Amino acid sequence: MNIVFMGPPGAGKGTQADRIVKRFGIPHISTGDAFRQAMQEGTPLGLKAKEYVSQGLLVPDEITNGIVRERLAQPDCAGGFLLDGFPRTLAQAETLDDILASLNRGIDHVVYLKVDRDLLFIRLTGRRICKSCGEIYHTKFRPPRTEGVCDKCGGELMQRADDSEEKVGTRLDEYFNKTEPVLKYYDAKGLLREVDGERDIDEVTAQIGAVLKG
Ligand code: AP5
Ligand code: MG
Ligand code: ZN
Repeated sequence: MNIVFMGPPGAGKGTQADRIVKRFGIPHISTGDAFRQAMQEGTPLGLKAKEYVSQGLLVPDEITNGIVRERLAQPDCAGGFLLDGFPRTLAQAETLDDILASLNRGIDHVVYLKVDRDLLFIRLTGRRICKSCGEIYHTKFRPPRTEGVCDKCGGELMQRADDSEEKVGTRLDEYFNKTEPVLKYYDAKGLLREVDGERDIDEVTAQIGAVLKG
């Protein structure tokens, strides 16, 4: 199964992707996670990405496309993949078509998690991430058993640097200007599957499960 997850920042792409990749046994490819890892390691890619990510702006297509092209060619993607946070521009969507055509593959479903702007602010500013394993929490909607501590591994929880109110505003603007048009692109191809991302986490997972079966 070749799946693309789309939706604004804070829609729940990462939360749901973690569950769906376990179910299907496919790799989770998140360009945001790839950039954050490179930034943490201080690689040349990380330094370049930081200029944009830290401001809440999209990283230029040339950089982002190269990462995805390399990743999709890895053998573990042969049985399917879940792309989270890519494509985010029309140029990225066209590049993805080229990459997949060269691999003789195609997209099965584009799952769009729809969530209103006001709720996205609350989701993002309350998000906490485990420093060690990356598990995603929320102070109100998915609190850990002990404040500041990961249920899964005991690691320390932290806030993403781009989850400040100011950066969230920029990220949402980028999304509505550059990424929303990509939804139309996939709708025209008959691939778009809209899911109500405002329901609780388990209900959203159930909706996605139904879409992927159909
Ligand atoms: P990226 O890491 O992809 O961030 P994003 O798209 O802004 O999305 P988020 O990860 O913030 O949200 P999410 O949808 O995964 O929500 P989550 O599950 O965590 O990208 C970061 C940056 O990298 C970009 O700004 C850009 O600079 C760069 N970048 C990445 N890809 C790029 C590309 N293709 N091109 C160019 N640049 C790129 O959930 C959010 C919160 O809500 C959590 O606290 C969670 O617990 C909670 N929650 C989730 N679901 C529910 C629910 N149903 N009910 C209640 N709470 C919920
Ligand atoms: Mg995410
Ligand atoms: Zn953890």
